[in-house]
Amino acid sequence: MEENLVNDVIVLYKDKKWRDIVEKYHDHPERNKLLWVYPSENNFRFIKECLQQLGCDKIMSVGCGSGLLEWMITQATGVPVSGVEVDGAWWHCKYAPPTFIPLMMTTSKLEDDLISILRASNTTALLFCYFNNRDAFEDYLKYYSGKVLIIIGPKGKGVHTDPKPFGDLNDTWKLWKSQEVRSSMDYIAVYLKNIYNF
Ligand SMILES: C[S@@+](CC[C@H](N)C(=O)[O-])C[C@H]1O[C@@H](n2cnc3c(N)ncnc32)[C@H](O)[C@@H]1O
Repeated sequence: MEENLVNDVIVLYKDKKWRDIVEKYHDHPERNKLLWVYPSENNFRFIKECLQQLGCDKIMSVGCGSGLLEWMITQATGVPVSGVEVDGAWWHCKYAPPTFIPLMMTTSKLEDDLISILRASNTTALLFCYFNNRDAFEDYLKYYSGKVLIIIGPKGKGVHTDPKPFGDLNDTWKLWKSQEVRSSMDYIAVYLKNIYNF
């Protein structure tokens, strides 16, 4: 079943059929092998509108995994999305998922080239989807010069992420808008750095 999921998604990816991927697999039992959250067209539209309203022209996704979400965001919205993953044996082993965008690899301690990118990210939104590493999250935020943070994760479904989409950030960040992903109890939460008044 899992093999079918992966192979089918790869075929659809090659044909650029992102709508078919989300419609067919958003509730597939093995979906998490490739991605935790399968947004609807409406959700992609929400992301695009938030970015336009907040003056962002790209996204950097930290802990992007396979990069399937990131590829679909670009297809659906036209916004370029880069992906960062932590380097490790996992990505070189035979059980690793396929990757749908080129991954920017980092060590668990942020290196200078990634720090430079984060420091020059004024119009880039920083995305964490089902991220689960608080120390690393704080580290990325320390160097991020932009003003828009997107956290995608669960609320009330008994699944742990860190950060959570709601109630988990200090006063530097104010919730701008949020939207549920379908009726999945997963949420897209868009935060704005507090020093900006819109
Ligand atoms: C639960 S997975 C979510 C993957 C993907 N975003 C998704 O929604 O399917 C969390 C990911 O964060 C990555 N990660 C953990 N620490 C990281 C770090 N310091 N920098 C970049 N990625 C990291 C892990 O390797 C893992 O792929």
